[in-house]
Amino acid sequence: MTASIIDGKAYAAGLRERVTRAVAALKAERGLTPGLAVVLVGDDPASQVYVRSKTKQTREAGMAGFDHVLPANTSEVALLGLIGRLNADPAVHGILVQLPLPGHIASSRIIAAIDPAKDVDGLSATNAGRLVQAGAGPLDFPVACTPLGCLMLLKDSLGSLSGADAIVVGRSTLVGKPMAQLLVREDCTVTIAHSRTRDLPGLCRRADILVAATGRAEMIKGDWIKPGATVIDVGITRVTRPDGKQRLIGDVDFAAASAVARAITPVPGGVGPMTVACLLHNTVQAARRSIGLPPATI
Ligand code: GUN
Repeated sequence: MTASIIDGKAYAAGLRERVTRAVAALKAERGLTPGLAVVLVGDDPASQVYVRSKTKQTREAGMAGFDHVLPANTSEVALLGLIGRLNADPAVHGILVQLPLPGHIASSRIIAAIDPAKDVDGLSATNAGRLVQAGAGPLDFPVACTPLGCLMLLKDSLGSLSGADAIVVGRSTLVGKPMAQLLVREDCTVTIAHSRTRDLPGLCRRADILVAATGRAEMIKGDWIKPGATVIDVGITRVTRPDGKQRLIGDVDFAAASAVARAITPVPGGVGPMTVACLLHNTVQAARRSIGLPPATI
């Protein structure tokens, strides 16, 4: 079998277009411009690239983008002060603090300080808890962007996920845990695997849906994939080739897995572009909620 490629780049472009239309409608009908504040502490080059791209795409969608780039030695108190000001600012409907933060700042205290209504990353205890408790029907609170994007790709590729055996490899707060919750809501039978899991290859071989979010390059081998499975690769590891060129590779051995799977996301061009598109989606929905409107169908 040769897997079909799940084109996250194309899906994300379509999603951004729909978000742009929803933004235009909100402006025209209610005079409201959604605003997203992105906060970066320090000068990590990869984070700088992400943050620039988030703000650029925010503005391209017709929203207001507010960049806050702070030096690496910014104190936790100063960062909490900024979060307080953004919480109070009526032009800001979404706040994203780029992770990881420098070691002297407790991410948990910063995330806890963000108003849950503006937590477009879905990382606060309030929004993570809402996801655990959510029943069927539309989710009317922000859900973590990367797992939300993975779910959109899965539903687009498979239609109904009901009854599927799914495995999520990785248990992070940002991806693994919310991903598992979303799959349970879709009536999948979900296994969450991690570094202490016994017989990971055997568990993976049972899965109709495999989501890899380990951050370990090409850790998932081709012969771990069930024939006909759908594979979503969240990993992005930057490697330098012998010729000095940089390349991005995923958590899954793509060449071997695509010989077995039904469908698979590439790296790059799979999950990556979905994260920012979902951030824009979460921001326009947060802006709508701020004036009592129901979620738009996007
Ligand atoms: N760093 C890498 N991915 C993310 C993300 O989705 N949200 C935030 N806040 N930081 C990140």
